[in-house]
Amino acid sequence: MNFTFEEYIKDVKSQLECNASEEYKKKYVVYTYSNEDVDNNLDYFKKMYDDGYSAYKALLLFSYKPKEEKVKKEPELNNSNVIKNISTDQSEILKWIMDLYNDGQPFECDITASELKFYGKRQGNKYEIPVPKILMDVFPMKDEIIKITPFKKLPLEDNSVSSIVCDLPFVCSPKTCKSVVEKKEGSNLISNRFSSWYPMQEGYENIYWWINECKRVLKPNGILVWKMQNSVSGGLQHLLSVFSAVCAADAGLYIHDVFSLEAKARLISASKIKKQQHARKYTSDFWVLRKDPKRDIKTNILIKLQECKNNVYEGKVWEIK
Ligand SMILES: C[S@@+](CC[C@H](N)C(=O)[O-])C[C@H]1O[C@@H](n2cnc3c(N)ncnc32)[C@H](O)[C@@H]1O
Repeated sequence: MNFTFEEYIKDVKSQLECNASEEYKKKYVVYTYSNEDVDNNLDYFKKMYDDGYSAYKALLLFSYKPKEEKVKKEPELNNSNVIKNISTDQSEILKWIMDLYNDGQPFECDITASELKFYGKRQGNKYEIPVPKILMDVFPMKDEIIKITPFKKLPLEDNSVSSIVCDLPFVCSPKTCKSVVEKKEGSNLISNRFSSWYPMQEGYENIYWWINECKRVLKPNGILVWKMQNSVSGGLQHLLSVFSAVCAADAGLYIHDVFSLEAKARLISASKIKKQQHARKYTSDFWVLRKDPKRDIKTNILIKLQECKNNVYEGKVWEIK
């Protein structure tokens, strides 16, 4: 060809809708590709130039190239790849939370780090969850874990962390109870002091305290991943997971989601009570709580309760039209 490749590309671009004049568009065919589409496919145009195709013909044949090839197509959702609200693998739930609610980023802080069982390579886990940068616990099991104290502030500034993980105990049992000490293989008495509440009121108060404390240190729009399980103690139902959601609503945290972790099997201990009083619990919850007051106000369960009370008693209820 008696013109350079640069001139050829100029000719190609002049035939694009985005560059052509109104006059040109009236007389000739124009193509809806962008300058970027051309620049991203210079190899194709170079080949057409070398093979002697005119700029017009190169564009004409270019249109047969499926455009989808250039756009990264998301796989279609189906039952095997959709993010569900239930799993038997906690690494899968943590990965789903990271992907859906934390821009695919690792969590920044864990205030109940313990043995770091949520993170790293673990047998039977589908995913390897990265260890958070900031690790804390009331009973630090490793040097890198910072000691914290119940009902004392976390050693973090207000609005300073983007995501926090918290996995408090849910069992009610005396701290030195023989059955608890024996059940925990390889653990000692001190760690057992921190793996149960006694009485259950201690658990309720800790849940309330830590949710509010996490809210204080979270950056605006930050998330708290809160693992909790409902529990039965002394023949009474203690809905600690539900209570956590109430505390979150009271603190003004938006309840963004909740995932259930299902246990495949649970230890059934020999008990004096032979007849079951309550269903044995096979699920625990991972709440995703966001410091987003704008969204919280629209669904906050405590505000909704107040609105219902007001409306129902004032007769301002919704009517089916
Ligand atoms: C279920 S374990 C956490 C396990 C941890 N996610 C892991 O993967 O190893 C409960 C943790 O809560 C901590 N803990 C116990 N009592 C607490 C309290 N009053 N306030 C804060 N954390 C407490 C314990 O030290 C323990 O590390």
